[in-house]
Amino acid sequence: MTSTDDSRDDATPIPGRPGDPLRGRHVVLGVSGSIACYKAIEITSRLVQAGAIVDVVLTKAATEFVTPLAFKAITQRTPYTDMFDVNGPDGEAHVELARRADVMLIAPATAATLSRLATGLAEDFVTLTAIATTAPLLIAPAMDTQMWAHPAVQTNAATLTDRGAQFIGPAEGRLASGRVGAGRLVEPERIVDDVRARLGREHGDLAGRAIVVTAGGTREAIDPVRYISNHSSGKMGYAIAEAARDRGADVVIVSTVGLAAPVGVRVVRVDSAVQMQAAVHRECAEADVLVMAAAVADFRPATAADQKMKKSEGTAGTTIDLVENPDIIGTTPVTSSRGPLLKIAFAAETQNLIENAAAKMKSKGARFIVANDVTATDAGFGSDDNRVTILDDQGGRADLPLMTKYAVGHAILDRVRPLLG
Ligand code: PMT
Repeated sequence: MTSTDDSRDDATPIPGRPGDPLRGRHVVLGVSGSIACYKAIEITSRLVQAGAIVDVVLTKAATEFVTPLAFKAITQRTPYTDMFDVNGPDGEAHVELARRADVMLIAPATAATLSRLATGLAEDFVTLTAIATTAPLLIAPAMDTQMWAHPAVQTNAATLTDRGAQFIGPAEGRLASGRVGAGRLVEPERIVDDVRARLGREHGDLAGRAIVVTAGGTREAIDPVRYISNHSSGKMGYAIAEAARDRGADVVIVSTVGLAAPVGVRVVRVDSAVQMQAAVHRECAEADVLVMAAAVADFRPATAADQKMKKSEGTAGTTIDLVENPDIIGTTPVTSSRGPLLKIAFAAETQNLIENAAAKMKSKGARFIVANDVTATDAGFGSDDNRVTILDDQGGRADLPLMTKYAVGHAILDRVRPLLG
């Protein structure tokens, strides 16, 4: 098998999780000579594990830091380094790779590589392939701070950006020189997520759609240090957001939790239901879909004390008056600047799951509702998995088995897509 052969052994299942835009996609990874080259091995491994077909092309300088053999062992495909290798499998390999690529990533990209890319000096396998391809080009630079700041490098980066290349970083942090500053290669996990997000935008069935997802339990202040809340971890909302991002949507999470923002997703932090309502109304003014996965407190203390409440004699039995919170999903306008807003609700129930969820769907004006039994120990709050029943306003019902929250996200979006027209 030559490295430009995309066939897989039929007996080998495609790795990666269903719905991942990297699955079955052809990624050309260009590696240029930097001390950060070792991270290209991890990037390759992550891409392969996600189900991508990865061809690696290296500059001669890169081979001073890492061996082609390492990439061959991970990808099971022959890497390319020498444009003039008469024993190579294909004299026009760069053209073939360029043609097949769904995306080309250069990581790490050195100052010299940026210069050659900007001027079209196709004198190594990486620039040769980059110039031959029409696939999206993602570039993750790595160099010392002064080099990155140099006007020549900045001009080259600006030229490439103007031409449509997408830069990933560089990040700030500790550099090989021991200095701290901008120039560090972005961490492999995030680089791979950037590739994923880009492929989603290129091929996803929700490309161009704007989706607002809420996540986490609201926090209703009792005093400056205490609040009323619930067990929601935010995982369900973040997983839906990731799935929507992977299908190409522009995604905003209105969140009460401090989970890391998924690459390519904007996070708006709030605490209380009142704050969440304001943020949801603002974000939904320009959205196609609202998915209310947050666990919103139905009540909040009527007043929050200005100072921490003290325990002293006679305070046992103190009561806290509660007032009703606004219904966020119910009060969100049904149209946005983009047309009708599709509302999806969740129902967290401890009894009468289906009856309660069906009543909530109606009262909240949702097109469908995702019901989960939050007494389950293997699903619901805090877990990475969920077991849900989806009810729609046409009387439809789907009982889904236990699956990852990311897979639940896709199951929801599979039902959202046809409703968007
Ligand atoms: O965050 P995790 O740990 O991953 O857990 C996920 C989850 C169990 C929190 C999630 O799957 C879930 O069920 N979220 C909805 C929880 C909830 O508040 O359900 P509810 O039955 O109380 O509310 C019904 C719907 O109305 C929900 O979409 C809720 O967001 C919305 N609502 C509720 C009250 C309110 N004042 N305004 C609202 O918009």
